[in-house]
Amino acid sequence: MAQLPNFTSKVFLAPMAGVSDPALRIMCKKMGAGLVVTELTSVNAIVAKHEQLESQSKNITEFIEFSEKERPLSVQLFGSDITALEKAAKIVEPHFDMIDYNMGCPAPHITKQMAGGALLQNADLTREIFRTLVNTVKKPISLKMRIGVSEENKSLFLNISKIAEQEGIQMITLHPRTVSQGYSGHADWDMIKKLKENSSVPIVGNGDITSPEIAKKVLDYTGCDYIMIGRGAMGNPFIFEQIKDYLKCGSYKQYNLTDRLGAFLTYMELTSKYNIRFANIKQQAIRFTKGTVGGSQLRNRLSTAKNTEELKELLVQKVTV
Ligand SMILES: Cc1cc2nc3c(=O)[nH]c(=O)nc-3n(C[C@H](O)[C@H](O)[C@H](O)COP(=O)(O)O)c2cc1C
Repeated sequence: MAQLPNFTSKVFLAPMAGVSDPALRIMCKKMGAGLVVTELTSVNAIVAKHEQLESQSKNITEFIEFSEKERPLSVQLFGSDITALEKAAKIVEPHFDMIDYNMGCPAPHITKQMAGGALLQNADLTREIFRTLVNTVKKPISLKMRIGVSEENKSLFLNISKIAEQEGIQMITLHPRTVSQGYSGHADWDMIKKLKENSSVPIVGNGDITSPEIAKKVLDYTGCDYIMIGRGAMGNPFIFEQIKDYLKCGSYKQYNLTDRLGAFLTYMELTSKYNIRFANIKQQAIRFTKGTVGGSQLRNRLSTAKNTEELKELLVQKVTV
């Protein structure tokens, strides 16, 4: 069986559509993230794009962009069409260190296709998906899931994790909310603890981890092997260094608005190498200035920027005043 990569930190960056682009992933990696994951990508889209790119003598990395600096790097797939899944897994395998399978996405356009979080209630199809992935590629396969679809079946994750282990899935991330909860309420860390107690593969705890203190609490309380940070890393790649330092020596460096603006300028430089939508870059600018003194005035101005030059100008002005 393929070995999991050697993670240099217990703290991973979560896949976030429209947010965890290659530029942000590189920054989180530089700040000490042990693993970064691409945003979810449809297996059908991969197959269709591959055919198109192949005819132009290009490969899938034009569609799922990344940098060597991100390694170890995981690619996240979704979709339950078994033929497309098998093809997509073969297409991505040469380029990535791991493949992560999404069983958590609550977006209706995904759950309606019996994909993402909806699969939690379809044990037979789930088993077929895991078996297909494990038998198709030699790279390690991980799973990211929610606890259940709704309040009435919020322990589905226990059965799915058993199936995953039986079929050779090598690591499981749990975001302990139901699909119908979306992002409301609180992540139920007791469920991470329960999964850890009932599993023999490494468990990644995820959900509402937004500070070094909370990171330590979740690791200590649940016994999970790794933690994954999503929203806490938005505009805040520093969190990976801060958690690593706090776990090691009980203290960490604070970063101020100037540090965050500087980090955003680095982020913008990195984006020029990738095909990232301007709307997404602008959202990142707004995130990088959140929670900082004078940030709200700046964010109002940032939201009116029409291109990266305008964004840069506003930020450079702010850094130099
Ligand atoms: C904007 C956004 C996009 C997301 N996209 C994905 C995705 O592509 N794949 C996935 O598995 N989870 C996705 N998630 C869920 C996160 O990976 C994570 O599980 C969730 O946000 C809980 O962690 P947090 O409290 O640290 O944010 C997304 C979350 C957000 C906020």
